[in-house]
Amino acid sequence: MSQQSQFLYDRVYDLIVDQIRAGSLRPGDKLPSLRRMSLQLNVSIATVMQGYVNLEREGFIRSRPQSGFFVNSNHRAAPQLPSATSPKPIVRDIKMTSIVLEMLRLSRQPNSAPMGTANPASSLLPVRALGRTAHRVVTRNPAAAIDYTEPAGHHELRRQIAYRMSANATVVDPEQIIITNGASEAMALTLKSVTSPGDTVAVESPTYFLLLQLIEDLGLKAIEVPSDPTNGLNLDAFEEIVSDFPISAMLCVVNFNNPYGSLMPDASKERLVAIANRAGVRLVEDDIYGDLHFGPYRPRPLQSFDRQGNVVLCSSFSKTLAPGYRIGWIVADRDREEMLSRKHTLSIANSSITQMTIAEFLASGGYDRHLKQFRRALKQQVDRMRYELAAVLPATTRISQPQGGFVLWVELPRGIDVTKLFHRGLEEGVNVMPGTIFSPTRKFRNCIRVNCGHPFDSVIEGGIARLGQLVDEQN
Ligand SMILES: Cc1ncc(COP(=O)(O)O)c(C=O)c1O
Repeated sequence: MSQQSQFLYDRVYDLIVDQIRAGSLRPGDKLPSLRRMSLQLNVSIATVMQGYVNLEREGFIRSRPQSGFFVNSNHRAAPQLPSATSPKPIVRDIKMTSIVLEMLRLSRQPNSAPMGTANPASSLLPVRALGRTAHRVVTRNPAAAIDYTEPAGHHELRRQIAYRMSANATVVDPEQIIITNGASEAMALTLKSVTSPGDTVAVESPTYFLLLQLIEDLGLKAIEVPSDPTNGLNLDAFEEIVSDFPISAMLCVVNFNNPYGSLMPDASKERLVAIANRAGVRLVEDDIYGDLHFGPYRPRPLQSFDRQGNVVLCSSFSKTLAPGYRIGWIVADRDREEMLSRKHTLSIANSSITQMTIAEFLASGGYDRHLKQFRRALKQQVDRMRYELAAVLPATTRISQPQGGFVLWVELPRGIDVTKLFHRGLEEGVNVMPGTIFSPTRKFRNCIRVNCGHPFDSVIEGGIARLGQLVDEQN
């Protein structure tokens, strides 16, 4: 099928899913006939048919002989979004690392449904193409492949990253970029350079647990900022916090936050940068999910709104291409020299082969081609998982509706204990992350994060059904 017709049947698919999500099409409702839909959208009947077949395959609708297509009545009405959070503005010491590491260790179970750690399935990543690219770069330049790169990283890789950012309204000189071992090392080097032990760092509520571990490791303290599952950080609350407390830095994931999936609108990004710049608070942005947008445009990073060099951007290819290559980066203006010297002291430089491979993959257009299909697959998986979860969990369950990335935040009825659920899940081959590790106070005791990075199959289907039964045991 051509690119053009593929695009058209995806439009049919999206239109129906959006109507089901919004509740304008409800379980049991009949879909418009092929002919009517084809006239409405000005596409061929075959294109509408293909869109409907995909919807049926994904479980959203079913066909009745001689009658047409109907919204599947297994599906509940669209679940509500999780509540916005309102943590108390209290500066806290953090003790998370041992509990998080223990949970991650326990959840590494080969045969359980892979809904725990936030990882895409390797079947969705360009495994072969990257292997061929690695082979090509080593054959062409074997000496460079075993040599050190300069500490800031392979120059062509930095140039490619800068080039991609320029398409996203951010003017970056490759000299501002430091290649790191994943986004985690990028965040660690950045935090070390912009804070001193004992300082207070602001985090979103909920926030990605590794950021809490980093804060603990560096002897820092944390204060949580209220957030909502659609737009992210509550900026009025942030403004109050920075005027009431001496905050050194704010760590944030404004594009498809982990675990909320929230996306901060551009106007809010601009305001966040203005508030932080006025208050002298460094913004440390983790943009690891930005390329995984479901809408037509990549959301802008916070850094693109900053004229004062106050925002440091950290990212990596771990969610989009190859987690094991460990290629991440920092884009910094102020403090770049200090970060670079720390990187040099810590590990001299990243591995050369993986840097050269990704540089070549970006330059060849392979990354963009991969992203197109990958984003499409993720959107369908996230939609599907949201509906399947809604069908088995209690009616009052709330589920996020991210516009990118691949995690869902699920707020179960009050009284459900997700630590118990986590352990019972492991016994039953179901792996989800308990909400308690996404906050320094271990709240979110009735919330879980669900990974949707794997194609929906019988293992995941079984996992979701068992999850529903385990929640019912406690309800
Ligand atoms: C928001 C966020 N930042 C960083 C990471 C880790 O990135 P990396 O594997 O590149 O170190 C993750 C992985 O789950 C993440 O979700």
